[in-house]
Formats: sequence, structure tokens, C-alpha cells
Amino acid sequence: MMRLKSKNLLSIEELTPEEILLILDTAKSIKEGSFFIEKKEPYPLKGKIIINLFYEPSTRTRTSFEIAGKRLGGEIINFDFSTSSISKGETLKDTMLNLQAMNPDIMVIRHPVSGVVNFIAEKVSASVINAGDGAHEHPTQALLDLFTIREIFGNIKGIKIAIIGDISHSRVARSNIWGLKKMGASVKIAGPPTLIPPQIEKLGVEVFYNVDAAIEDVDVIMCLRLQRERQSQNLIPSLREFSRFFGINQERLKKTKDKVVIMHPGPINRGVEINSEVAEGKNSIILKQVSNGVVVRMAIFYLLALRRQNVTY
Ligand code: CP
Repeated sequence: MMRLKSKNLLSIEELTPEEILLILDTAKSIKEGSFFIEKKEPYPLKGKIIINLFYEPSTRTRTSFEIAGKRLGGEIINFDFSTSSISKGETLKDTMLNLQAMNPDIMVIRHPVSGVVNFIAEKVSASVINAGDGAHEHPTQALLDLFTIREIFGNIKGIKIAIIGDISHSRVARSNIWGLKKMGASVKIAGPPTLIPPQIEKLGVEVFYNVDAAIEDVDVIMCLRLQRERQSQNLIPSLREFSRFFGINQERLKKTKDKVVIMHPGPINRGVEINSEVAEGKNSIILKQVSNGVVVRMAIFYLLALRRQNVTY
């Protein structure tokens, strides 16, 4: 019988393939509809307190966690850092210790600094879920992406994927590379040399600087948002040039497999890394990813709640 090893979900790097499968299988059963009825516990988070702490903007992740928690009967508190005592100079550590003193069960945290969620997880007894830390990891995004790929292709092993664009600043890319490689997919990355981190091939990916060569035989193209807010230097000559050489548009798609699937974690920069016709076209599964995010996050909440009660799945 399986359960998650850690009280927290901080990265895909630390999960085993078996733990990833446990999350994906649980999410699949939830999506099929009978999971909680069969378990005779339709509201397994009843009485549990979840705090959503987002130190960066979010539409999808924050709302998805909120809906997932509510569907399971949990109480969700959205912590607004702009009206909190952080604006009076309170340190992150003090904020966390004070929130912990109120005894929440789960904290969902997004923060602009890589590694901060690990620091917090060591300080609090609540389960901590990383909702994106700097350019490090965004594990729940990768899990919903893996879930969606498996739903479409029936498996992940052997699937060929190209991840395109701003790899350097992308926590989504890093989490997906860990997850896809652990589950047996073949991963290419492509982007301008200035947006590809050194030694990334050590993670088992093939590196391309020509996007057409990277995407010609793949099953999935995963576009990444060009993170303009994280570009401290001039890493690309212009948005127009980035779009011309690395943007996914219909002309480029004509040179790929007919049934290639287009993914994007959102928010999209229309006309930069992807154009509107592709984002809304027949190959796009971008909104399916968003829908699947809710069941995947329900599965994570459920499995962490079991882990806290020392119950095995
Ligand atoms: N994919 C993603 O993390 O989107 P948000 O920034 O809207 O949460």
C-alpha cells in the first residue's frame, strides 16, 4: 500500500515515479466521479484549514487550489500579503511562525525566491505545497501536465515532447523535465542560447537552438511564457525577433505531426511565444490542462491529508 513519503509537496525532483503515479491515479479516479463515494467520505477535508499564501500574482493556480479545497469540504483562507503585517516590516519567518501558531493543516505557497518554500516547510508543522518558487519548481503544474498527457496518449513512457522558449526562468520547465524523465518520456528543449541554462543536458534533455528541428517529430509541444518580469538583462533582441524564431504559429505547425498536441501553462503572451490561432486551434489542450488542475490538486490535498493522519492509501 502506498502513501506520500513527505508531509509536504515541494518539488518533482524529490518524488519517486511511484509517488507520481499514486497522485495521477488518484486524480484519475476522482475525475471518473466515484472515488469519494466508494470511500464513503465525500468531504475528506471537512474541518481542515488551508491557507493560500501567494506572494506573486496568480489566476490559475490560486483559484484551482481554492476550488479543489472547497470541493473536498475544506476551509480556505486567502492570505493577502499586501494588506498583511509584511507591509509593516514583519519578516517571512515571523509571518510563518504566527500563521503556524493558528494551527492550519495545509499551506499553499507561491514566492518569487527559489527555495523559500523549503525553508518554510522546515519551520512549520502544517503540510506545505509549493505553488511555484522563483525559477526553481512548480510541481503541481507539472503533475497536471503529466496527467493531461497520460489522459490523451494513454501513457507517458515513450512520448516525445519539446519544451520551447524561456527555459532559464521557467519553474514549469524544470518541474516538467524532472517529471517527464522520471516517467520515461523523451524531452527536447529549444530556445535562444541566452534563455537556456548551462548544463541543462545533465537532466537528460536534448538541447536545440532551432525550434523547427526540435518540433518536427514530437507528440507534444509545450510552449512557455516569456517571463518579461524576470528578464534582468537584455536576453533577447526584441519580442518580435523572439516570436519570429521561437514563437509557435500555424506556419511552424504545418511542418510537424498532424496530431501534435499544444500545451501552455498560462498565462499566454499572445503573439509572442504562441499566436492566437494556435492557442485556440484544434491541437491546443491549454484549457484541458486548467480543468485537470482541479482534480490533480484535489488528489494532492487528499493524499497529504491521509499522510497527516498516518493512513495508507
Ligand atoms: N500556470 C500558472 O502557474 O498560472 P498562474 O500564474 O495564473 O497561477
